[in-house]
Amino acid sequence: MPHSEACGRECKGTKHRASKPSAYKLKQAKRAIKAKQDETAGSEETVNPVAFELQQKCLNIFRDALQPSVEDTAVLQEVKGHLFNRDFNAAFGREEFLRVYASRWSPARAVGFLQVLADVQHHVLRRQPDLDQLETVCLGGGAGGEVVALAGWWATMLELLPETALRARFVDIAAWDRTVAALHKGCVTPPELSKYASATAREANHALLPEDKFSCTYLQQDVLSWQDPSMASIITPTTKVVTLFFVLNELYSASMPKTQRLLAQLTAVMAAGSFLLVVDSPGSYSTVSIKGTEKQYPMLWLLDHTLLVSSQKTDEEQVAAWEKVENDESRWFRLPTGLQYPIQLEDMRYQIHLYRRLGVASNG
Ligand SMILES: C[S@@+](CC[C@H](N)C(=O)[O-])C[C@H]1O[C@@H](n2cnc3c(N)ncnc32)[C@H](O)[C@@H]1O
Repeated sequence: MPHSEACGRECKGTKHRASKPSAYKLKQAKRAIKAKQDETAGSEETVNPVAFELQQKCLNIFRDALQPSVEDTAVLQEVKGHLFNRDFNAAFGREEFLRVYASRWSPARAVGFLQVLADVQHHVLRRQPDLDQLETVCLGGGAGGEVVALAGWWATMLELLPETALRARFVDIAAWDRTVAALHKGCVTPPELSKYASATAREANHALLPEDKFSCTYLQQDVLSWQDPSMASIITPTTKVVTLFFVLNELYSASMPKTQRLLAQLTAVMAAGSFLLVVDSPGSYSTVSIKGTEKQYPMLWLLDHTLLVSSQKTDEEQVAAWEKVENDESRWFRLPTGLQYPIQLEDMRYQIHLYRRLGVASNG
């Protein structure tokens, strides 16, 4: 499989390094994160705490990097046709299709994922020692939504954890390397201004976040054919979060046994205290063949069964290797009125599940 380091550099975090935050400052930061979360807990349709300006900045990154226009309509229809026929090789098989797909579907997803990350951050950043960097891996994450969402989320986190860099890896079967590179550049470079822009506008024109605080690596690989050594070089014991956004059901549909194997590989590699974050369409079902008869199972049932019931075998019994710390089978993310984008965007309905890896020390 081709393997490209298409986007950004590995972050060494030296250029803008300031002094380490004190334990007190970190505690305060985590309290602020938790307080923000508590404000929105318990509501079906979550209040949108992500700043409007930040959401607009995220959309602007897509607008500038991918240049969507109403003239893309014909190409978009072609892509829609392939997606409808579940011919993903065709839908993601041409550079122009990738640009049009990412400029049409990923911006709203990015803003929705930004909300998702804000909703789970109190779990992810809880009980952390001083962090130099937070490592994330997004499986099926090539289309750009995850890139911009992570950047937007981290821009808010930098206010609380100014020392910490976010190191993101995106693994996807399609050739999204140029899309990821263009969006990453848009996240760490100030937007281009018109030559008539005022001095004040120029002064206020900043990148979403500094380059040394957000690194991206793109890997074009089929996660269902992952050999253990390749996987273990990407997802390591220091990986804090692995995401599966709108891809798990697709993987289950492609191959149930291979998807089960992938989940077992994740369980084997990920360290205690790390997280698996799954977002997908609500009510996703997959057909499974058991003892020769085909049956439909909800994606969630399959996932819970694998991670919570039978994920770790010991000699005597089966022990759960994961605990579920967030669970919602249907949630809406509605785009706030007033956001500007050259083409129409849609709200996002999703199910969300966050699992925390248990370990000998943290079990129970
Ligand atoms: C529905 S799109 C979701 C894209 C993105 N995660 C989002 O939510 O906007 C599914 C993505 O999964 C990728 N994908 C599908 N099968 C895959 C596999 N076996 N290995 C890696 N990526 C895969 C596709 O190429 C596509 O980018």
